[in-house]
Amino acid sequence: MKTLNIAFLASHGGSNMQAIIDSVRESRLNANLVAVISNNSNSTALHRAEKENIPHYHISSQTHGGSDEMDAAIAETLKSCDTDLIILAGYMKKIGTRTLNAFKGRILNIHPALLPKFGGKGMYGKQVHQAVLESGETVSGVTIHLIDEKYDNGPILAQETVPVLKDDTVNTLAERVLKKEHSLYSKTIAQIISGEIPLP
Ligand code: GRF
Repeated sequence: MKTLNIAFLASHGGSNMQAIIDSVRESRLNANLVAVISNNSNSTALHRAEKENIPHYHISSQTHGGSDEMDAAIAETLKSCDTDLIILAGYMKKIGTRTLNAFKGRILNIHPALLPKFGGKGMYGKQVHQAVLESGETVSGVTIHLIDEKYDNGPILAQETVPVLKDDTVNTLAERVLKKEHSLYSKTIAQIISGEIPLP
């Protein structure tokens, strides 16, 4: 079986990306790490990629003169390294149509709550956990889904729950959820590779 080529898009810290890289390095995941793309030239994600010797690219609307050009550059970069699966790991930009069409059903995203609840435009980072706490939910969790043209909307591939504790703050809940994200992303990719989770 062909070893899957994985590429990442990340805007900031890239701790989810690092957890997946660690899984590959420790042979818990059988994949090639072919590219890291960030819209943020100074992102920790790009620094991590450099340290890990993974080809990395800064592609933004500033570097490429507009969002259409940025979309084209991302699609071309991903194609040129023969990407099979794209992992969004805290990528704060909407994926453009060209990239979406070229990699339909092959772009995964992680969301720090149980979609379809607490998703959609503006629901990212602390806002998600704030909304969960305000709603009085006793359970939150992590969702891995395929993306489509709407925010947090594509088919759900995996979900795991995380308890919301009585004295949780946004930070304590975020920390517990992030820990679960780190394990679930690699686990889901492994299940995609093994065929246990079929892609469309
Ligand atoms: C995670 O909480 C993820 O669910 C969301 O963005 C955050 C990225 O964190 N999409 P990191 O950059 O992987 O540390």
